[in-house]
Amino acid sequence: APSIIQEDFLSLKDYSTDEILDLLNLAIELKKPQNKYLPLLKGKVLGMIFEKASTRTRVSFEAGMLQLGGNAMFLSSQDTQVGRGETIADTGRVLSGYLDGLMIRTFHQSTVQELADFSSIPVINGLTDDYHPCQVMADLMTILEHFGTLKGKKLAYIGDGNNVANSLMIGAAKVGMDISIASPAAYAPTPEMVTLAKDIAQYTGSVIDITESPEQAVADSDAIYTDVWASMGQEQETIERFEHFQGFQVNDELVKHAKADHIFMHCLPAHREEEVTTGILEGPHSVIFQQSENRLHAQKAVLIALMADK
Ligand code: CP
Ligand code: NVA
Repeated sequence: APSIIQEDFLSLKDYSTDEILDLLNLAIELKKPQNKYLPLLKGKVLGMIFEKASTRTRVSFEAGMLQLGGNAMFLSSQDTQVGRGETIADTGRVLSGYLDGLMIRTFHQSTVQELADFSSIPVINGLTDDYHPCQVMADLMTILEHFGTLKGKKLAYIGDGNNVANSLMIGAAKVGMDISIASPAAYAPTPEMVTLAKDIAQYTGSVIDITESPEQAVADSDAIYTDVWASMGQEQETIERFEHFQGFQVNDELVKHAKADHIFMHCLPAHREEEVTTGILEGPHSVIFQQSENRLHAQKAVLIALMADK
């Protein structure tokens, strides 16, 4: 197991550059066919609390735990006492008596923090309104596999300054990658989030750029990334957001500004012909299914780092 000193995986901001690179290198090792089944978590059980929908996160964590010799338990908030108001503090203390690790997908980052504070077992953030660190580990792994390096590469993120954008910004800052985020002004990442990323970037040399111009963001980029305009929990804003995000679609015209050998990325699920055209999603630059597969490998690395016997 890599020499990770962290007990939880709540945000990439808590991890050092070396810890992140160690996890990525472990993930690349785990991806080799001969390492698919390694009983490093034999007999261990991961609980997975979901307060929002999921395909990739649920299935990749569950498959990953089984491949590591353990088990995973899907805990929908609707079918547990969480949905009937049992506190997160009580839930964390109870589940710590049964399980070896917990993953949670929820709304507020403070809920994940509270679960970690009250649990005596490792807690993993499987997406909040603020962050999606597991996704960004898979994304960094994909960029690393494709280009052989992260430092100095430029990532352009077009669209909503959401959980994925925040984690990409922090992840990029940690590994010395440049990132340019283009959003309508009202949907840009918060000043606090940008300050956090820029503070990290001081030490790694990353350039963090926030703009309202998709063309400026994409200019000379190595990777172009987008995500849905209305995230889970924002469904009632869909129409209003659709109007505000006109001009922020990733399409043939926009990608002309990127490097010729750029890759196109999306965390999925995608809304075709909204944030991105079908042609770009399905086109030769797209690495979206390499990204989704890498969720499995990157999360297995995180699970080993947090849950394997030391
Ligand atoms: N990208 C991602 O987290 O997908 P799911 O919502 O399907 O888990
Ligand atoms: N930003 C999206 C990502 C889904 C994986 C959401 O939060 O719904």
